[in-house]
Amino acid sequence: MQADPEAAGVTIRPLTPAVGAEIAGVDLADLTDRQFAVITEAFDRHAGLLFRDQALTPDDLVAFSRRWGELDVAPVMENGRTAVPDYPEIYIVSNVKDADGKPIGSLGAGEAVWHTDMSYLPSPPYASLLYAIEVPPSGGDTSLCGMKAAYDSLPPELRERIAGLEIKHDGTYNSGGYLRAGVTASDDPMHSVGQAHPAVCRHPATGDALLYLGRRRNAYVVGLGLEESERLLDQLWDYAVRPAHTYRHRWRVGDVLLWDNRATMHRRDPFDATARRLMQRTQIKGRSRPRAAVDAGAS
Ligand code: SIN
Repeated sequence: MQADPEAAGVTIRPLTPAVGAEIAGVDLADLTDRQFAVITEAFDRHAGLLFRDQALTPDDLVAFSRRWGELDVAPVMENGRTAVPDYPEIYIVSNVKDADGKPIGSLGAGEAVWHTDMSYLPSPPYASLLYAIEVPPSGGDTSLCGMKAAYDSLPPELRERIAGLEIKHDGTYNSGGYLRAGVTASDDPMHSVGQAHPAVCRHPATGDALLYLGRRRNAYVVGLGLEESERLLDQLWDYAVRPAHTYRHRWRVGDVLLWDNRATMHRRDPFDATARRLMQRTQIKGRSRPRAAVDAGAS
């Protein structure tokens, strides 16, 4: 299917030079194949897509998400629950409490630090989608960081230094700092549970070299002494999350934000815990393990 935005009635407006684009002219509950072809091309180019003013039932959300591939079953949340009844693919990110005072979702109202979703797995979900149902009057903004821009900003000697290295992505804590179910608490980066991935990965669709950091807490550069690993990671993070590489999203009800976990990291601002924020999230399964960009560092 040819991706011609004009013929499909779709407009694409970049949100920043480094990451993100707003897509207008589509109803995600009633999308044509022609429009989907335009959206997939924009997804590869911009790594994060924003759709405003959507009204999606859980069926619509799951159907749109499935167009991207097989969906993950939502992981167990901090409240020990698995998913929305009848919709095991939908995960709730929320601070809202039920009638018994128990959170209905994950991550509360605190900050969610920069991370890539579930990169502590061998084959992490390649895309994540967040749909805003209730938003607080202020706070709770979600930011994306473009990891192509992050990699491109590294000085040549740092690129050379990390070419061929692997970073262990910690699986002990989630981005809100909560211990994951069934995992022993640890603040030892060399020995905490996790998965090593190449520090520089190649995007399977665009061929771009991408810095792949996952999250900072308990990260470890495989094979280095702890102090050297910490120093190198601090240096990389210092370049990665510079404002020029990021887009900060102020939510409105009906917004959908879809991001490429291979090419972005994201974080969330804290918000007033007495305000309500309710998001539904789906994740699209990874099709392959993150692959090293073998010639990275050469340019
Ligand atoms: C997440 O980190 O997956 C959630 C982000 C958000 O709540 O905006």
